[in-house]
Parts: sequence; C-alpha cells; structure tokens
Amino acid sequence: MAYFASSTRYEKMKYNRCGNSGLLLPAISLGLWHNFGAMGDFRKMKEILLRAFDLGITHFDLANNYGPPPGSAEINLKNVMQSDLGKYRDELIISTKAGYLMWDGPYGEWGSRKYMLASLDQSLKRLGLDYVDIFYSHRPDPGTPLEETMMALHTAVQQGKALYVGISNYDHEQTGKAVDILRDLGTPCLIHQPRYNMLDRWVEEKLLGVLEEKGVGCIPFSPLAQGLLTDRYLNGIPEDSRIAGESIFLKKEHLDPELMVKVKALNQHAEQRGQTLAQMALAWLLNRKQVTSVLIGASSVSQLEANAATVLNLSFTRDELAYIDNILV
Ligand SMILES: NC(=O)c1ccc[n+]([C@@H]2O[C@H](COP(=O)([O-])OP(=O)(O)OC[C@H]3O[C@@H](n4cnc5c(N)ncnc54)[C@H](OP(=O)(O)O)[C@@H]3O)[C@@H](O)[C@H]2O)c1
Repeated sequence: MAYFASSTRYEKMKYNRCGNSGLLLPAISLGLWHNFGAMGDFRKMKEILLRAFDLGITHFDLANNYGPPPGSAEINLKNVMQSDLGKYRDELIISTKAGYLMWDGPYGEWGSRKYMLASLDQSLKRLGLDYVDIFYSHRPDPGTPLEETMMALHTAVQQGKALYVGISNYDHEQTGKAVDILRDLGTPCLIHQPRYNMLDRWVEEKLLGVLEEKGVGCIPFSPLAQGLLTDRYLNGIPEDSRIAGESIFLKKEHLDPELMVKVKALNQHAEQRGQTLAQMALAWLLNRKQVTSVLIGASSVSQLEANAATVLNLSFTRDELAYIDNILV
C-alpha cells in the first residue's frame, strides 16, 4: 500500500533554529549508524523511518561508511526514498559525511579534496539523490591543511551537491579555525556534531562556548551513550541489545558497577519526573541553549516513539540540574 505521511506530523515535534542559520531542525533527529545496514531487517528499517517522519522527525543523518557493509545504510535509505519518502524530499533534511575509511589507497579516507568530493559523489549515487542537505567533514585530518578540507566542503555547496556544511569530532581550536575559514569562503558552517551525553561532557569545557560565539548549531551524537543512558541494561544484557550484538563500539566492559550505580540513580530521578531515563537524558541535552537537536539511534519503533515523546517535558529546575550533576561526578 502506498505510504502517505500522517497529517498530524508537525503537531508535537519542536523545531529549533540551527545556530545563526535559517534552518530549523527537529529537536529529535534520527541517525542510521546502527540497525540500517545490509545485514538488518529492511522491513523494520522502513517502519522506523516512516514512523519517524510521521512523528515530525525531518532529519536523517548518515555517513559514507554506515552499514555494515559501509555504504549500505545510504542504499537502504535510497530504497525507502524511492518506495515511500521520495515525494516528501523537500520536507527532509538528509546529511552525510566523509572522513573515515571507504576505499583502498591513499585517497580513501581523511580530508583531502580528492577524497571528500569523490566520496560525496559516491554517497549521492548510493542515496539516489541530486544533493544532500548537509555534508560533513567526519573528522579532522592531521595530514591535510584545514583550508583544503574546508575548501572541499565549500566546493560541494558551489556544485549544488550540498546545501549546508558541517564538521564532526573537531575540538574547540580546530572548530574555531574551520568556522572562520568557511565564513571567509562564503559558506558558513551550519553545525557541529560532537559526542555529547550525560556521561561524556567534554564539549562543555570549551567547544560549546566556541559554537555559541560563532553562531554554529550543535547536534550531539550518541546522546544516550549508545543505550547506557536508558533502562536497557538495568537488569542485565538483553539478547537483542547493542552490547549483545557485534558492536566494536559498545561492549560488556562498559557496564562497570560504578557506572550502573549512577545509571540507577538517574533512572530513579527520571521516574520522579514522570519520564523514562532515555527521555530525561535527551531533555537534559536539549536544555543547553547551544544544542539544536539530539541525534538518536533506535532499534525499534517503540524506542523511537518513546524518544520522540521527550519533547513533552524539556524543563528542569535548577535544583534538579544540580542533583543530576551530583550523581554524575
Ligand atoms: N559523527 C560521528 O562520529 C558519529 C559517531 C556515532 C554516531 N553518530 C550519529 O549519531 C547517531 C546516534 O548514535 P547512537 O546510535 O550511538 O545513539 P544513542 O541514541 O546514544 O544510542 C542508540 C541506542 O540506544 C538504545 N535505545 C535508544 N532508545 C532507547 C529507548 N527509548 N529505550 C531503550 N534503549 C534505547 C538502542 O540500543 P539497542 O540497539 O541496544 O536497542 C539504540 O540503538 C548515529 O546513528 C549517527 O547518525 C555520529
């Protein structure tokens, strides 16, 4: 049956302006890093993507290497665009990135102009799109002049292959320089995508200040610490969880007893707020004025729905924030 998006899709989601730009992003965005590769269940992926759009989640985030195998998440999104979502292209913000290993030889990763622009062309083919909304440098490259990587982002926009550009995993100094170079080229840096969650607050020291000063949006990735900041592991390791799977990024060792004491205390506080821990963890990030959107992952429609409902309660009292800080030290 043909898919038609819910007529109520824009009623509940909140949309925040991304830095000083004209672009509004949904408070909750969906990433396709896990669960959207060629090994996954395509029907389930499609269900998650369509439900996301029905909930007002207009932003899907990808990278050239998302899979496994690398590239297959982009192909899966293409298939859903072709069958169902294509008619809503102008209601969607689709991002991709280049930076990590994609092909053999000296031009298959990092930040050279050669790699960045070839990778974007490959991504557009896999996605079946003429352009992406946001093209990112996925990581800083110590071996390439920053000017060259930023010039490649600028060229992508000039070529009409990307509407906006962003950077990911850049520290505050690299970010300050990158943003200035892009501004001088006439392609403002729209957004920064750092890892940021209650358990990993490195951005608070300097990066958030730089983003605010320069009018760049912030979209934290792994806002739930890959599932640690949810009720997923409160009573052991479920068989269908990321830890039980083959992830090289989240392993059993991450569930140390000290961490679980914190997670349980956070979970109790979330209950008192009438929220799940996942919802509280997302709301806590959205409470920062620099944060435009949080970039979640989801392995089921029910996780997605629960996370989207975060926007129903985003406020914290000062006492609550101090209480949470105390748990986290
Ligand atoms: N720029 C970068 O370098 C970079 C790096 C990493 C990620 N990212 C982006 O960030 C996106 C999100 O990353 P992430 O997947 O690590 O995010 P996350 O939201 O921190 O973790 C997602 C995982 O948490 C669990 N989960 C989510 N909602 C839940 C709920 N309501 N209840 C219980 N468990 C829940 C699920 O794990 P189970 O699978 O166990 O159910 C889900 O797969 C990626 O898709 C990608 O777009 C970017």
